[in-house]
Amino acid sequence: MGQLVLNKSNIVKVEKVSKSFSNKKQEIPVLKDISLEISRGEIISILGESGCGKSTLLNIIGGFEKADEGKILLEDKIVKEPTRKCIMLFQNYGLFPWRSALKNIELGLEGLNLNVKDRRDRAVHYLELVGLGDKGDLFPHEVSGGMQQRIAIARALALQPEMILMDEPFAALDTFNRYYLQDELLRIQSQEKTTIALVTHDIDEAIYLSDRVFIMHANPGKIHKEIKIQLSKPRDRTHSDFQYYRKLIFEEFRFNRTATPIEFNI
Ligand SMILES: Nc1ncnc2c1ncn2[C@@H]1O[C@H](COP(=O)(O)OP(=O)(O)O)[C@@H](O)[C@H]1O
Ligand SMILES: [Mg+2]
Repeated sequence: MGQLVLNKSNIVKVEKVSKSFSNKKQEIPVLKDISLEISRGEIISILGESGCGKSTLLNIIGGFEKADEGKILLEDKIVKEPTRKCIMLFQNYGLFPWRSALKNIELGLEGLNLNVKDRRDRAVHYLELVGLGDKGDLFPHEVSGGMQQRIAIARALALQPEMILMDEPFAALDTFNRYYLQDELLRIQSQEKTTIALVTHDIDEAIYLSDRVFIMHANPGKIHKEIKIQLSKPRDRTHSDFQYYRKLIFEEFRFNRTATPIEFNI
């Protein structure tokens, strides 16, 4: 009581970002005037239908694509290219099939100034963190999709980034594995305090994981609404408070139905 409440510092600022792609000599606007800020240690979701520009926005934040207008600031510096401070985690895991789990993680560390032992120790530490301490010698094809994604998460975390960008990271998994991985992600994030920006078309996933959800509408992609999820974690998907947010978010999409069909996991 009476305590000074400090504003959390922003780690990322997206400032008035617009982007078009050329298609058969036609300019197609994909993102229009997107602005948002992400606080350090936060988990945010960008939620929207397929094709609304979520991946494009995430790629611009990560420095993989260039905005036509506007800019991205990561720790107050303009993002011009990908950096180790901000790592992208892809849906298809991006592991090298000819390397064991441990070697995949070590590979990511090769650019760092670590000796062989430190590199190995760090890789082992993060493999243990994702619960795969005994799976280091296995190759990606020898483990399940869920485990492959955990290896990819360990590889990203091992770089000790300020931020991880996740593009529909659990979309390829079945429901049970997805729920399990979501819990794992929350457990790891509460330990590592890494800032996470996640792109998803799954309303349930956005509510379960996020501190804030940015709802994106298409043609061109715009942030339509920001919703703060004021539920303590871990969250109960069956609780009426959770249902409240599902309904709230679903309505935001229902009233914006365009000619294209929307597929949501609701
Ligand atoms: N490199 C590209 N060249 C041309 N069009 C693209 C390119 N990348 C994405 N697009 C188009 O931009 C739109 C948004 O794509 P994307 O960001 O992948 O959407 P989402 O991730 O929300 O499904 C889509 O219409 C897609 O076809
Ligand atoms: Mg996408």
